[in-house]
Amino acid sequence: MIKILLLSGPNLDELGTRNPTVYGTLTLDDHVQRVRALAGKQGWELTHLQSNFEGVLIEQVHGARGVFDAIIINAGALTHSSWSLHDALDNFAGPIVEVHLSNPAGRESFRHTSTLAPVVSGTIAGFGALSYDLAVVALVDLVGERSHTGESPNA
Ligand code: DQA
Repeated sequence: MIKILLLSGPNLDELGTRNPTVYGTLTLDDHVQRVRALAGKQGWELTHLQSNFEGVLIEQVHGARGVFDAIIINAGALTHSSWSLHDALDNFAGPIVEVHLSNPAGRESFRHTSTLAPVVSGTIAGFGALSYDLAVVALVDLVGERSHTGESPNA
């Protein structure tokens, strides 16, 4: 069975009350339930972890090697600062989709750079809850592509 790790970074546990005009009113739990249901339709298992601590997220990425087939990550503001998370993700062999609810490219300049961008398969941003759905759609292709070539998705 394909196993997906969904990682949520700092302050995403505040969704629902956090800047609703930018992030909407759904809670993180709402997003997770939605993306888990969509992954479930593919027969996939989705595990979610949220942390406000960079090191915890890094250790989750380390532990994902050989266990999970793909990662979906919304690293919150660590996206714009964390070279440590970049390096951890760089050592994960499967597809990685970077997700943002908002469109960081259209916001403050400090959000215009992603340290993760060079090591992810692609980024989906600006579509609210739909960003997560689109990440699953992308993975249908990316995970499928690898199994068709005989390459294990988590090699
Ligand atoms: C975010 C965008 C980041 O710039 C911000 O720091 C977040 C949320 C998003 O989902 O739009 O925490 O990742």
